[in-house]
Amino acid sequence: MNDTKIAFIGGGNMAASLIGGLLGGHVKPNMLWVSEPNAEQRQQLSINFNVQTTADNSTAAAQGDVVVLAVKPQVMHAVADEIKPAIQQHKPLVITIAAGIRLASIAGWLGDDIPVVRAMPNTPALVQTGASALIANQEVTAAQRNLAESIMRSVGLALWLEDEALMDVVTAVSGSGPAYFFLVMEILQAAGETLGLDRESARLLSLQTAFGSAKMALESTHDPATLRRHVTSPGGTTERAINTLLDGNIRQLFMDAVANATQRSRDLARQLGES
Ligand SMILES: NC(=O)c1ccc[n+]([C@@H]2O[C@H](COP(=O)([O-])OP(=O)(O)OC[C@H]3O[C@@H](n4cnc5c(N)ncnc54)[C@H](OP(=O)(O)O)[C@@H]3O)[C@@H](O)[C@H]2O)c1
Repeated sequence: MNDTKIAFIGGGNMAASLIGGLLGGHVKPNMLWVSEPNAEQRQQLSINFNVQTTADNSTAAAQGDVVVLAVKPQVMHAVADEIKPAIQQHKPLVITIAAGIRLASIAGWLGDDIPVVRAMPNTPALVQTGASALIANQEVTAAQRNLAESIMRSVGLALWLEDEALMDVVTAVSGSGPAYFFLVMEILQAAGETLGLDRESARLLSLQTAFGSAKMALESTHDPATLRRHVTSPGGTTERAINTLLDGNIRQLFMDAVANATQRSRDLARQLGES
């Protein structure tokens, strides 16, 4: 990957975190281009990362062996129209990270012969611990799949899907997922405070517990249900809390929440594809 030129269209949060991840993985700054309309943001990117910047999307698109589309979904169609001539000229691998924009929409806007990988990252990518799902169209070669995977791996986990319809489920599980865990941290902190802990102690204990639990679950050979049982002694404090949550139907609530988010993702994707 070190001799691959990568151009980012849109230099916002997600592009900056991918650039940070790539540079941390020994990609040289002179291999990276970013187009970004905001002059201040361009200057920040040059200062922070020493990458080449431009206000012109087509200039950046013409540079990349890989072109990463990192603009908001609402402007994606206009941006695709703008860079289409540059993309058609040298046919780079295109990676789109925009939520809800389907492979078929990108192919419709840029041309059917363009290799496109669609990735769905999440916000922890901003601190290099993201989780992304990827799907490729028929034009993508094995080498390009590896390239796309390496780029997304620079900010965390990357795994492949074979069925694009599952992107809506990924959006509901890991795309929106950080918010579910933030909500649990928020509630746990509030409960600690209500019961007498000072704000900072309640915050730190809640957050470190969330972090430690995720680390333990990732590193353990046991599944989360087993790990939960290990800390739930019969008649103990954890059992009382877990039973309260289960009696309140937390399982069904979570199932409904994720199913509703999946449906919303489908609806939004349909609207974006039609726009
Ligand atoms: N952040 C996440 O956790 C996350 C998760 C999953 C997927 N994504 C996807 O990642 C993409 C980028 O998200 P983000 O959080 O990085 O958003 P962001 O910080 O707003 O970045 C988008 C950047 O694109 C720039 N831009 C706007 N119009 C443009 C144009 N016509 N040509 C080139 N650049 C343009 C924006 O500049 P201005 O600020 O001047 O408008 C901004 O710097 C989105 O499609 C989003 O769906 C993000």
